[in-house]
This record gives sequence, C-alpha cells and structure tokens, in this order.
Amino acid sequence: MPGQCVIGLQWGDEAKGKLVDLLTEGKDLVVRYAGGANAGHTVVIGDDVYKLHHIPSGIINDGVQNLITPGVVINPPTILEEIKQLADKGIDVSTRMKLSQRAHVVMPWHVLEDKMWNRLVSGEDNIGTTLRGIGPCYADKVGRSFAIRLGDMIQDDFPDRVRRIVAVKKQVLSSVAGDDMELDAEAIIKEYAGYAKQLASMVTDTNRILLDAVDQNKSILFEGAQGSLLDIDHGTFPFVTSSNSSGVGISTGSGVPGNWMDQILGVCKTYATRVGGGPFPTEQDNDKGQHIRDMGNEYGTTTGRPRRCGWFDAVAVRYTARLGGVTSIALTMLDVLSELSEIEVCVAYDLDGQRIDYFPAHVNDLRRLTPIYETVPGWQTDVTGARSLDDLPVAAVNYIRHLEKLIGRRIEYVSVGPDRAQTIHIKESVKLDEYLQTRAV
Ligand code: GDP
Ligand code: IMO
Ligand code: MG
Repeated sequence: MPGQCVIGLQWGDEAKGKLVDLLTEGKDLVVRYAGGANAGHTVVIGDDVYKLHHIPSGIINDGVQNLITPGVVINPPTILEEIKQLADKGIDVSTRMKLSQRAHVVMPWHVLEDKMWNRLVSGEDNIGTTLRGIGPCYADKVGRSFAIRLGDMIQDDFPDRVRRIVAVKKQVLSSVAGDDMELDAEAIIKEYAGYAKQLASMVTDTNRILLDAVDQNKSILFEGAQGSLLDIDHGTFPFVTSSNSSGVGISTGSGVPGNWMDQILGVCKTYATRVGGGPFPTEQDNDKGQHIRDMGNEYGTTTGRPRRCGWFDAVAVRYTARLGGVTSIALTMLDVLSELSEIEVCVAYDLDGQRIDYFPAHVNDLRRLTPIYETVPGWQTDVTGARSLDDLPVAAVNYIRHLEKLIGRRIEYVSVGPDRAQTIHIKESVKLDEYLQTRAV
C-alpha cells in the first residue's frame, strides 16, 4: 500500500512544501486534498524559490502527475496566475496537473464575505483569516444551495446559477456591509467563463484517476495544507481553518480509502509559530520570540504577516501525531535555534493548579493554562551544512532525541535549512540513544 502523506502537526508553515518536494521523486502522483489559496508552500532548489498556494509541491518534478481533489477550494484567477508564474520558470503545469470537477470554487462573493466577517469581529475574537474567501466557500459547500463546483462552470446553466446566487449574496452583503461590496452578475459570468475555458483541459474526475491508481498499486504522495491544530473539528476552534487539515482529512479530501495510507509523515518545527488569532500556550511575545522570528524569517508566505513565535509544545504535537496516525516525524528549522544557549520545551500544562498532559479541547482552557517547561542546552554551532547526524553537535542530537521521546514517534528527517539538499535522513535502523553512545567522549 504505497500511500504516503505529509501533514503539518502545528499551526501551519511547518515546511510541508519542502518535504513534499523531497519525497516526490519516484512517486506516480502528488495530491493536494484540502484547503485552498490560504496555503503557502515553499520549495527551494538552489537559487530557484517556488511559492505555491494552490498547485501541489510535486509540480517541479517532471514525470509526476499532480492532482487537486474534491476537498480543495479553488480560486480560478489565483491558480491561473500561479500556472503562469510556473510557465515563466519553464514548467508546463497543464501537462502535469489535473483538477477535480468536484472541487468547490471560491467566487468573488466569498472573498467579500471573508472581509466582511473579519471586519465584524474584533479583538481577541478575531480569527485573522487569510482573507482568501476560504471559510465562506466551505460554508456554501456545506450549505449546498449557493455552491459552485469546478464542474459547474462548464454547464449550460452556469450563468443562471450565478445570477440566482448573486441576487441573494447582494442582499446579504449590502444589508450587513454597505454598498462598497458590489457584485455584478453579468461581469462575473463573463470573467468566469473565460477562466473555465483556460482550465477546461485540466478539469476531470480525479476520483477515477486515484481509484484506478490504487487498483494498480501506484505510489501516491498526499500533500497536507495548513496544520493539524487548524483542523475545523480537532483544532483550536474557532481559531482554525474550515477544512480537516489534520491527518483525518486525507481520505475525505482526496477520495482514497483511509486504510490505503501506510506512511504518514508529520512535519513540525523545532519551535512553534502561528499566524492570525487564537490561543498559543507557548507563545513568546518578547525578545526570544523576536529572535526566532528573525532567525527563521517567520513571515507568512501567503499574507506576509509576521508569524507569532514560541517554544516547542510537545503536548500539542504528541496530540496531533496521535490524531493523524503519524508513523514518523520530519523536524524542521533546526538551524533557527543555533544561536541559543538554552532552549525551552513545553512538556505539560498547569491548568488551574493541576498538571495535565493532554491538549484541552476548549479555547478558554487553552487560554488559561500555563506551560510547564524543561530547559535543554543549546549547541551554538551553525548546522546549516550538516547532511548526516555525524555532522551535528551532540547537543543538537540530544535535542532531537528529547523531542522524539516527548512526541512518541520516530524522527526520520531533520531539516537544517530551506534548500532541498539541507536535509538529514535518519534510517530506521538508527536508534538515537545507541547512536549518542557512539558520540560519547
Ligand atoms: P509550509 O506551508 O508548511 O510548506 O511552509 P512555508 O513554506 O509556509 O514556511 C516554511 C519556510 O521555512 C519557507 O520559507 C521555507 O523555505 C523555510 N524552510 C524550510 N525548511 C527550513 C529549515 O530547515 N530551516 C530554515 N531556516 N528554513 C526552512
Ligand atoms: P500552510 O499550508 C499558516 C490560518 C490563518 C488564520 C486561520 C484561518 O501554508 O501551512 P483561513 O484563511 O484558512 O480561513 O484562516 O488559519 N491559516 C494558516 N496559517 N499556514 C497556513 O497554510 C494557513 N492557512 C490558514 O492565518 O489564522
Ligand atoms: Mg505556509
């Protein structure tokens, strides 16, 4: 069962794009199954930097088929712009990618609604979305009557459908937001008919492609978007995205049976970040957080917003690794901590005077708790050139082993820089405890 998945175990931006690109070699298909243009995945190969929002990170490898499946919400002008940018770099996306007829379309009113809802909720309650229309599009998907799927855009009744929806959306938007949010049905019909034409050769039934691939035992790589703590059902609700971005969403979003996935790689940073609002128990809104932001260049790939930074939260990552059925871990950004003499790791929480070792479900509990930290020595050595465990200082390997024990899953990859090449693969046969004995002086 060669179904391999890459999922984020924190609040997104864990470097999933890097890992997907790395693991694409030898795969038949790479699949984006959730989220939309709220994602920003970066792939760095030498001097070439690719920032992908919609298109799977497998696109750079020739000979691999990339799919966007029903669980994704697609913004046509955004994806067309991305296709153009890749064409400028010599990548012909149209021959390497197919889009599901079943995927829902982010329409102009969704973006307006996202802005409107965001404006109406202030302070601590503000989710701080990416304003890409993601929540409203998924809301219409679940509500059904006002939804548009990619396959609808080439149907004869598309213009009438748009007219009917726009009539209702205009009422809602103007009553709540005033008249700065105008929608012109005829202009939208014309514009989107043009997009449909440009995308037509790529739109198909990806369920058939994938189920045939499963029957033929082809190897498939699933690319998660966002992070598990942003999962609509299992994350820090309501400060989440609108899809199942944890491991539980792979099957619903792609249409491939869950029992077909055999390797689930959970990606997490050696610290923690979050963009937008919501609880973040280990946040360091201070010099330490700023140091991490500076060293890790922690600014959003999609919105450019500074990411909130803090210490590694082992309680949270243990939770999401278990939730996602994670079989091994990719630990990224080891290099970012290189200048620190001491590193804190959250190993439990204090909630109302009681020590707990689980991740609370309610946002108010998450806001109230105090992290309990362990202090681990830093290594204060540049690790960006390391390509094997032998190249790392012992203190860095100790830190990796420490996190491995706390998460309860094997660490298989360690990333020491953005480039594809800046990666250490730890073979299954290597046990870190035994390895460290060989390094003892
Ligand atoms: P994704 O959304 O999970 O794919 O992650 P993003 O691309 O949004 O953010 C990760 C950022 O970190 C990107 O700018 C990557 O190029 C960069 N990156 C990836 N791995 C490493 C690493 O090990 N060290 C450093 N310093 N940067 C990395
Ligand atoms: P990748 O795939 C980090 C966050 C937003 C906001 C919340 C809801 O690059 O890891 P939305 O626009 O989805 O309704 O916003 O989710 N968010 C992300 N944060 N990385 C992402 O994607 C994110 N996608 C959404 O900042 O807090
Ligand atoms: Mg990102």
